[in-house]
Amino acid sequence: MAKKNGYDEGKKYKVRDIELAVDGRKRIDWAESRMPVLMSLREKYRKTKPMKGMRIAGCIHVTKETAVLVETLRAAGAQVSWSGCNPLSTQDDVGAALAATGTSIYTWHGMNTKEFYWRIEQTLNFKPNLTLDDGADLIMTVHTKHPGLAPGILGGTEETTTGVHRLRAMADDGKLLYPIIAVNDAETKWDFDNVYGTGQSSLDGILRASSVLLAGKTFVVAGYGHCGRGVAMRAAGMGANVIVTEVKATAALKATLEGFRVMKMDQAAKLGDIFITATGMKDIIVKKHFERMKDGALVCNTGHYDCEINIEELETLKKRKRTIRENNEEYTLKDGRRVYVLAQGRLVNLAAAEGHPSEVMDMSFANQFLSLLRLAREGKNLDAAVHDIPVKQDQEIAKIKLSTQGMVIDKLSKEQIEYATDYLAGT
Ligand SMILES: NC(=O)c1ccc[n+]([C@@H]2O[C@H](COP(=O)([O-])OP(=O)(O)OC[C@H]3O[C@@H](n4cnc5c(N)ncnc54)[C@H](O)[C@@H]3O)[C@@H](O)[C@H]2O)c1
Repeated sequence: MAKKNGYDEGKKYKVRDIELAVDGRKRIDWAESRMPVLMSLREKYRKTKPMKGMRIAGCIHVTKETAVLVETLRAAGAQVSWSGCNPLSTQDDVGAALAATGTSIYTWHGMNTKEFYWRIEQTLNFKPNLTLDDGADLIMTVHTKHPGLAPGILGGTEETTTGVHRLRAMADDGKLLYPIIAVNDAETKWDFDNVYGTGQSSLDGILRASSVLLAGKTFVVAGYGHCGRGVAMRAAGMGANVIVTEVKATAALKATLEGFRVMKMDQAAKLGDIFITATGMKDIIVKKHFERMKDGALVCNTGHYDCEINIEELETLKKRKRTIRENNEEYTLKDGRRVYVLAQGRLVNLAAAEGHPSEVMDMSFANQFLSLLRLAREGKNLDAAVHDIPVKQDQEIAKIKLSTQGMVIDKLSKEQIEYATDYLAGT
């Protein structure tokens, strides 16, 4: 592997087992065949290499779809150094396949907190000039431990709602040191990945970890934002009776108009067979809720951090705990009731399943690629604030996606465009 800028890319990795690379490569090939938008960008920029000179540190779930993004960035000329953003979401075979073809990557499934931050530190060794985050842990490490790197960083991107919240709060405090593009907030990300991706993959995780019948079950969804709505829709589609809990009046109202019962968690706790949190907020399911649950209740989370279900409080109620099946811990409480926690309260769709389907990540990661390209070109002219992606980019990505599905849509005629801006036209 050639040395670039004194950095020996190909020798820099720590993965579970490099021998898993063959299986990982097959998974990546599968994802590529379902990510036509991102692959068209790879083809477009392969020759011109507009990312040449870019050193990208990335911290995001290492899945087969992420591998397609990483290899697209490298094909466009970037150097990368990568880590996963969750202790349980790394697909070890994918990590091995990336390492085997020269990507600098530090990640494995089942790491502890110390290892988690050690890996992020490794990705900062090559002094990145762009960062990519999912949850803002990498950016936070730059700001708190290595602020000296910030002047050399053109900008960064953020993939998820919780990360964008953290970064906006930081910007409001005047603490953000370089520009961020909120990829999460793009229409072609938030309204698709969070809704349909999380909807399907969270149910996939629940089923892989429990194989329960959803039809006829009372299914409690905490949070009726993008993710919660997707999960509720899909659970209802499988025949579950969905209850929603919310703190935002308009979101609660939407849930009722979309056919779901809405109530407080205190009440839902007694009724639910399956609980899923999708709020990005801590302490959604706590001791008083576990105390009310039915025997056999199943609890999981699909929000970014594992703070939504208070497992520490559940631990204080338990008489016995055992792993009943993969990603499924049975807690027997002192009164004999059993509560099942899936994926340790971490993102159930990534820890117990494979994350979102490739088709939906295609658009999210096309946004990531184009946002990093924009930062490479214009980052030095942007303020140290959280920036939205341009509306035009959203429409372009959606248009390409439609065309790859063989769909053509109508165009506004000249007369219609004039009508749209003619405030004098009435009845
Ligand atoms: N599992 C995944 O793959 C995945 C994908 C995308 C986003 N996420 C994460 O999921 C979480 C939700 O993201 P989103 O895009 O749906 O956010 P969102 O802002 O669209 O929705 C969150 C909803 O939760 C509600 N809420 C907040 N506190 C609550 C409480 N105490 N009780 C009930 N409801 C409450 C809010 O009012 C809001 O309607 C975030 O942590 C995000 O980072 C996970």
